[in-house]
Amino acid sequence: MKNQLETIASVIKSTDSCAVANFATKIERRTMFMRKERLPRITILAVGGTIAGKGANTTQITQYQAGVMTVEALIDAVPQIRELAEVSGYQIANIPSFAMTDELWLQLAGKVNELLSHPNCDGVVITHGTDTLEETAYFLHLTVASDKPVVIVGAMRPATALSADGPLNLYNGVALAASEAARGHGVLISLNGRIGSARETTKLHTTAADAFAPHEAGLLGYMVDGKPHFYYKSLRKHTVDSEFDVFGIPQLPRVNIFVGHSQDTRDLIDAAVAAGTAGIVHAGTGNGGIFPLTRQGLQASSKQGVVVVSASRIGNGLVTAKPLDLESHFVVSDNLAPQKARILLQLGLTKTNQSAEIQRMFQIY
Ligand code: SIN
Repeated sequence: MKNQLETIASVIKSTDSCAVANFATKIERRTMFMRKERLPRITILAVGGTIAGKGANTTQITQYQAGVMTVEALIDAVPQIRELAEVSGYQIANIPSFAMTDELWLQLAGKVNELLSHPNCDGVVITHGTDTLEETAYFLHLTVASDKPVVIVGAMRPATALSADGPLNLYNGVALAASEAARGHGVLISLNGRIGSARETTKLHTTAADAFAPHEAGLLGYMVDGKPHFYYKSLRKHTVDSEFDVFGIPQLPRVNIFVGHSQDTRDLIDAAVAAGTAGIVHAGTGNGGIFPLTRQGLQASSKQGVVVVSASRIGNGLVTAKPLDLESHFVVSDNLAPQKARILLQLGLTKTNQSAEIQRMFQIY
């Protein structure tokens, strides 16, 4: 039966009709699943965001309420995903992602780890607002202890908009999570037909549908007609090779980010230290440039046991350790974006506040 279907599919595909070829692709997919005897089981965890957002009318693209639709409504809106996987849904939260908290990250990491530890879960898709999507993705990249696919998707247009991008992003997310090819890459970000690593992919546009891409590190691949095409794999450690385990941790250490600029100050740094911050990421000018007065503030923080990471506001390239940074025991961020350096520093601080040890982590994650 399987072989017959495969033969029929290849014969039909050799004709030139697009509709017939699509039909053949569906048969091929079915036979693939039949070989595994069942469809992959994928759980969709909904966190909120624009993908679950609704506006007053179809032309409202930026004026809408994020985090309105439930996970059931998201799934029902894309019935095609049931051809790809046995899908179940779980509502973690329904918030705009600029309101994301460490507490919710810990809850999400716990839920993803719990789901993936069961043999009856083959992968997880997370629907999330795009503002902090990359941060949640990187947090999970370092705290999920499984090589099963975890794919995080969002949308730049609410579900009610003309040309809403959420449904196709969800479809591609489920197709990716249901594929063997997605295993072992860590957490993947998939929007607008692209597949990127959680470590590298970032939001690059405030409103365009094509908002997500990595900087120079490059894409891992593409989603085309619901099929993944991979070209690269990240060499940095994640998931099953990560040393971070947040199980039972009630809260993450506080880390603040300060963006460097001309005529900078130190008073906000002093205030953060007085408020109990455990770490500071300084998003410096150029290759981790720091205004002299600000450097004094950071050096004073470091002397008080606060771990300081020198990052860059530029977006491309790595930050190198300069003699002054080494003297002050500052950690350099490698090429991690400041918002991701913050996450690695938070996780590092759950284990140590020794800057040399934290520097080691920045060289491998
Ligand atoms: C949010 O991040 O929740 C709002 C923006 C979006 O989802 O695109």
